[in-house]
Amino acid sequence: MTAQKLSPNVNIVGGGMITFDLLLPSLYHLQRTGVIGKIDVCALNAVPLKALAENPDFHEAFPGQRFTPHPGLTAPADAQNPDLYKEVIAGMAPGNMVVVATPDNLHYAVVKYALEHDQNVLCVKPLVLKYEQAVELEKLAVEKGRFVGVEYHKRFDRRSLVARRGYRLGQFGAFMMGEAKLIEPYYYRHSNFQNWFTCDRTDPFTYIGCHYVDLVYFITGLKPVEVSVQGVKGRFPNGNEAFLWSHARVTWENGALLSVVNGLGYPDAAAGSNDQGMILYCEGKDQTGLMFHDDHNRGVAYSYLENTGPGGSKYNYVSPDFYRLVPWEGTGYKPIGYGYESVEGITRTIHRLENAAAGLSGEAALVRRRELIRDVDSQGLIATPANSFINELVVEAARASILANASRVRIVYGDHPHIEKSSGSWGVVSG
Ligand SMILES: NC(=O)c1ccc[n+]([C@@H]2O[C@H](COP(=O)([O-])OP(=O)(O)OC[C@H]3O[C@@H](n4cnc5c(N)ncnc54)[C@H](O)[C@@H]3O)[C@@H](O)[C@H]2O)c1
Repeated sequence: MTAQKLSPNVNIVGGGMITFDLLLPSLYHLQRTGVIGKIDVCALNAVPLKALAENPDFHEAFPGQRFTPHPGLTAPADAQNPDLYKEVIAGMAPGNMVVVATPDNLHYAVVKYALEHDQNVLCVKPLVLKYEQAVELEKLAVEKGRFVGVEYHKRFDRRSLVARRGYRLGQFGAFMMGEAKLIEPYYYRHSNFQNWFTCDRTDPFTYIGCHYVDLVYFITGLKPVEVSVQGVKGRFPNGNEAFLWSHARVTWENGALLSVVNGLGYPDAAAGSNDQGMILYCEGKDQTGLMFHDDHNRGVAYSYLENTGPGGSKYNYVSPDFYRLVPWEGTGYKPIGYGYESVEGITRTIHRLENAAAGLSGEAALVRRRELIRDVDSQGLIATPANSFINELVVEAARASILANASRVRIVYGDHPHIEKSSGSWGVVSG
């Protein structure tokens, strides 16, 4: 007789853009394919929950599937429920799954609360904003034997996986000089970004530059050792001052340099919906190698009859690689692309972990789950607190740098990794 498979229930905390665009549809598909059980979604108020519940695309793609909203859809729109997620998590049986999709500064509190209540976690990037917090969460996760996966979906892009394998097979040589860019659309300046994307809280490098720093680390295995970020300030339509552009220089442990250009300014009229990509030059024996990824124009352009493209555009480059709903052999439509595959990878890991320990006694189950967590940490495909903490160090260094007019900030590893400000001028940094 085969044992009944456990399908963890999922509680998503945060009902905003990323839940709408990626998380909920991905989880709906995993629900109907038996990987997960029931889905709950918590938000500050009922407004985004109503939008999720009534979205006709979801009804068409996932007929008959529903989530349980917290607060309920009839709750007054202006009533805020910042602690409701705690009640919902506290009511979950141990060993289920919490998806953290709140604004960056709330990740730490929600992930910690979920772990304290014996839940596994999928957290959108960035895990937390301070290295010390990542260390604390890693320890707590090991203590409880519960898994924390950080959803850096660019890692699941096929081109990143191909590059990682090729680099590690020595096909390119050693990374030495590179450029990466990710420029988000101008129309973001008219969105809710106006209220939180201010100089004191974040900047374009911290928000999106981190993706390419993580990718260079993912592909090459090299650690960043110094960061300098120059910001360009401007004002949102509501008058709030922000870094609207940023230019970073990241130095790697072998002396390699990466320029990272970011901003909120890709023209709304241009085909996109944003601009992104990277080129990495590598040193080989008496020759150089390179990796070039055009992540912006992936070779598909559509001109629609109506303005149904991103930002209301008619003509646009389309990425079938990130996330799309497409016909499949079942009912409705299924999500495809590296966004979906990233959510699936983390969710299936949690499913595997809980099933591997099912039927074992308390201590044996804990030991088994810890073994599996260590395997995922060392495999390095899914970002975890243990294998992706360089991202927290880079963000900490970047914030210190941009607020000090592009000062160079070093990242020191060893027993107690930390950042150190250096007041020296630009110069050659030995590897
Ligand atoms: N490429 C990527 O990996 C990617 C892309 C977009 C966003 N993100 C990340 O996703 C996170 C959310 O971004 P977003 O664009 O969806 O933001 P958003 O502002 O659209 O949504 C935030 C949601 O959090 C909810 N929320 C806030 N406080 C809460 C609380 N105390 N309890 C319950 N819910 C609460 C709000 O109600 C809202 O639904 C951010 O950390 C962001 O960096 C990652």
